[in-house]
Amino acid sequence: MKIAILGMGVMGRGWITQFAMYGHTVHCHDVDKKTRETTVDYCARLSEKSARRLKIDDPEIAAKTRQNIVVHDDRSQFVDAAKGCDIFFEIIVEDLNLKCRVLGEIVPQLPERVVFWSNTSSLDIDVLARAAGRPQRSIVSHGMNPVPMMKGVEIVPGRETSPETVDMTRKLLLDMDKVPFAAPNIPGFWVNRLLIPQMLDAIRLLEIDQVSVKDGDDGLFTCLGHPQGTFKLCDFISTPTMLRVSLEMFESSNDPRLYPPRMLARMVKNGEYGAATGKGFYDWSDPKNPVARSMDEYKIATVEQLLETTK
Ligand SMILES: NC(=O)c1ccc[n+]([C@@H]2O[C@H](COP(=O)([O-])OP(=O)(O)OC[C@H]3O[C@@H](n4cnc5c(N)ncnc54)[C@H](O)[C@@H]3O)[C@@H](O)[C@H]2O)c1
Repeated sequence: MKIAILGMGVMGRGWITQFAMYGHTVHCHDVDKKTRETTVDYCARLSEKSARRLKIDDPEIAAKTRQNIVVHDDRSQFVDAAKGCDIFFEIIVEDLNLKCRVLGEIVPQLPERVVFWSNTSSLDIDVLARAAGRPQRSIVSHGMNPVPMMKGVEIVPGRETSPETVDMTRKLLLDMDKVPFAAPNIPGFWVNRLLIPQMLDAIRLLEIDQVSVKDGDDGLFTCLGHPQGTFKLCDFISTPTMLRVSLEMFESSNDPRLYPPRMLARMVKNGEYGAATGKGFYDWSDPKNPVARSMDEYKIATVEQLLETTK
């Protein structure tokens, strides 16, 4: 198949690798020049790492992945290429207004047969589908990071999504050894509806000095079998994406648990984005041995300190 991918960040690169590894041709574009220049090398490396993890024995995997990726510097050339694709896949930042604007500019130019996928973590597919102007051929296909290594993919049809769109989405994912599962069209769908409030609670407890980064993650790792713990996961997701997702989920639900803690917003303001930028809840100077930070500079008054003020 031919896939057009808009947005080549953390998740865009994951999906580009996924499709390219499995022999599909991927046309892609991102507004950021550096991202466009570094993506093919990144995806080739990710395909090798993923093949090792998934026990795919193919010494040519990196070369094949490279061969299947076409990066377009110019957006109008990308749109022309997308006209000949089977799927237009939107993977830009989690901002409803931006997504709707960009979808409204691009998708109506594509032939009616092109199916629109979004990788949104939390946004209403009906709103995105309306912006794209083809509700019967619109669906959320929400992969997890790193996409080629994480089998689960949430499938969220909208009110008007046709059974054919759901079927082709499932089939394509199954053909790439993914595990698609149906999720409801509510803020955060299934996975993030449960996960995001829990992660924000963890940050709030850290902020009032009730837990440390290391103890918190050790506890979840050893007691609940989490692969890394909540703070490390946040560093992989990136703090800006966590902030955007929680703000979008708060806006659409008014649930106070989804309002982002100040610590998260302040980390974003200070450029502490997580693993990719070297600093988040962990210091990633040595990416193989991240060191849990004290986060003291971000803590707000503890219960004891507040009680002091009443005396
Ligand atoms: N990070 C995660 O773990 C994760 C997991 C699942 C889903 N998601 C979702 O995937 C989507 C992308 O998230 P991400 O983590 O890859 O974010 P990211 O910030 O790493 O990447 C987003 C990319 O979009 C590009 N972009 C922004 N506006 C654009 C435009 N108008 N045209 C083209 N490119 C544009 C940016 O330059 C950037 O490279 C979001 O909807 C997010 O909620 C993220």
